[in-house]
Amino acid sequence: MTITSVRTDVAALARDVVKIYGRGETAVRALDGATLSIPAGRFTAVMGPSGSGKSTLMHAMAGLDTVDEGQVLIGDTDLGRLSERQRTLLRRDHVGFVFQSFNLVPTLTAAENIALPLTLAGRRADQAWIDEIVAMLGLGDRLRHRPAEMSGGQRQRVAVARALAARPRIVFADEPTGNLDSRAGEALLGFLRHAAHELGQTIVMVTHDANAAAYADQVAHFADGRVAGVTRNEEK
Ligand SMILES: Nc1ncnc2c1ncn2[C@@H]1O[C@H](COP(=O)(O)OP(=O)(O)OP(=O)(O)O)[C@@H](O)[C@H]1O
Ligand SMILES: [Mg+2]
Repeated sequence: MTITSVRTDVAALARDVVKIYGRGETAVRALDGATLSIPAGRFTAVMGPSGSGKSTLMHAMAGLDTVDEGQVLIGDTDLGRLSERQRTLLRRDHVGFVFQSFNLVPTLTAAENIALPLTLAGRRADQAWIDEIVAMLGLGDRLRHRPAEMSGGQRQRVAVARALAARPRIVFADEPTGNLDSRAGEALLGFLRHAAHELGQTIVMVTHDANAAAYADQVAHFADGRVAGVTRNEEK
């Protein structure tokens, strides 16, 4: 499906979002009025304590999950007004996601996993772009391996390559450097910043690491199910 954007400067927006898991005594208010604006073509980091709702908001903004109150927009499309099928298509065509747990397909090789979003959408791969991602992420010698034959850090990089392969309108990455040593982490962060600044790729990254967040253009700070504040980083 196509989506339009009048406000070209905002790639995605969450407004006063409430998300409650479970009901009754065991209900958890994972999001409690979360508001976050994601500028297009920029690199946004999301920080905050464990359990503060970061993954929940990423899933909601990516259309992976619905919300109980409030609004989520990608471009000008209000996800709450879409059917489940429409949401699936919007996700397929416009959103890349790096899961905290990677979610690679175990029976596919690294190369097949990376191309999967394009395969599913019936689109031809831009091989030059995929080659560039694979080279930047240092995955060239792992393309024929299946996830079980790769290290955690390699799997994580395959998940990042897969999220970027189709050049989606927006990429969400949940702790993409969590399993990487500092050198591989810095390479990945440099690549994400490059993708935003040189290629206009909108990127949202959850991280616990202040050094990783320093690569972003802005940092949203989560607390208790909402965004407590946003700080802008100096141009580097
Ligand atoms: N499927 C679920 N069912 C019930 N509760 C959930 C579910 N997913 C998340 N929660 C709860 O919602 C709250 C927010 O979880 P979330 O995963 O968004 O936190 P997070 O900020 O991403 O934490 P972390 O940094 O540990 O990944 C937590 O209290 C969590 O236990
Ligand atoms: Mg999380």
